[in-house]
Amino acid sequence: MPSIPRVKKAVIPAAGLGTRFLPATKSMPKEMLPIVDTPTIHFIVEEAIKSGIEDILIITNSNKHSMENYFDINFELEQRLKESGKKELADEVHQIASLANVFYVRQKEPKGLGHAILCAKSFIGDEPFAVLLGDDLVVSETKPALRQLISAYEDKKTTILGVQKVKHEEVYKYGIVDPSKEVLPTDANFKIVDFVEKPKVEDAPSDYAVLGRYILTPDIFEKLERTKPGINGEIQLTDAIRMQMKERSLYACKFTGERYDIGDKFGYIKATIDFALKRADLSYKVRDYLKHVI
Ligand code: UTP
Repeated sequence: MPSIPRVKKAVIPAAGLGTRFLPATKSMPKEMLPIVDTPTIHFIVEEAIKSGIEDILIITNSNKHSMENYFDINFELEQRLKESGKKELADEVHQIASLANVFYVRQKEPKGLGHAILCAKSFIGDEPFAVLLGDDLVVSETKPALRQLISAYEDKKTTILGVQKVKHEEVYKYGIVDPSKEVLPTDANFKIVDFVEKPKVEDAPSDYAVLGRYILTPDIFEKLERTKPGINGEIQLTDAIRMQMKERSLYACKFTGERYDIGDKFGYIKATIDFALKRADLSYKVRDYLKHVI
């Protein structure tokens, strides 16, 4: 049996306007918002690396400099830290630059997630690739969420959408998949027959929402090129995936892990509290403080 190409490259779209997080996002991407002391994008890059990804392309906009600088070496800062006896901190800062091979491309206008992914076409070439949304953080105590999707890809050899069950009354906020049969609690992956963007609660085909993780096959680019702009002139990834679905089977992977929507204020606050409660240096103080304010 011919071997399938390995998923080695990942795309992190981070060029959205972040309107839900204005005014902070007026001058910085929401992906740089820190969870305690570490930018969200750092955790996302780490998840990709732990999942076996070798090269990462971040789709940016004119606010990109903070991300480029973050994954680069800052000699002056390191020197100053060393001079003031903070060698450990200097090493920590230095190590970030060697986390991964990170590349950047600019999306010149925010024309939607589909358009952002199309900007990765020449970087990806003719290989399957991963997409991790820059504002969707997933914490998994076992296998990283993306690794779970890659395993599903290795099994099914087709586009995989990462899903989790959401509250029925909240399906209108998400892209919702239509499973080909009843999904059993034991099914890690299941075939899908449709994928609808933000359905009305009464029309939703299931409660399984696509949450920021995908493995896409390279024919998606040709579909994205044929996708007509929808609301606000945006090119929707959902429309291109639905075109793929007409040609072959697609699967959903029910990934495990706690997912946080960092682009949403409440999601961001939850992540900050949960991360602080897990930190040995902060947990006691935060717990004590929360007891006082509630
Ligand atoms: P979102 O819809 O969550 O991001 O897109 P947004 O448009 O920045 O959010 P709001 O609604 O205005 O607050 C999901 C992901 O796709 C990226 C975003 O950066 C985010 O990671 N994206 C979205 C792009 O890269 N380009 C776009 O044109 C749109």
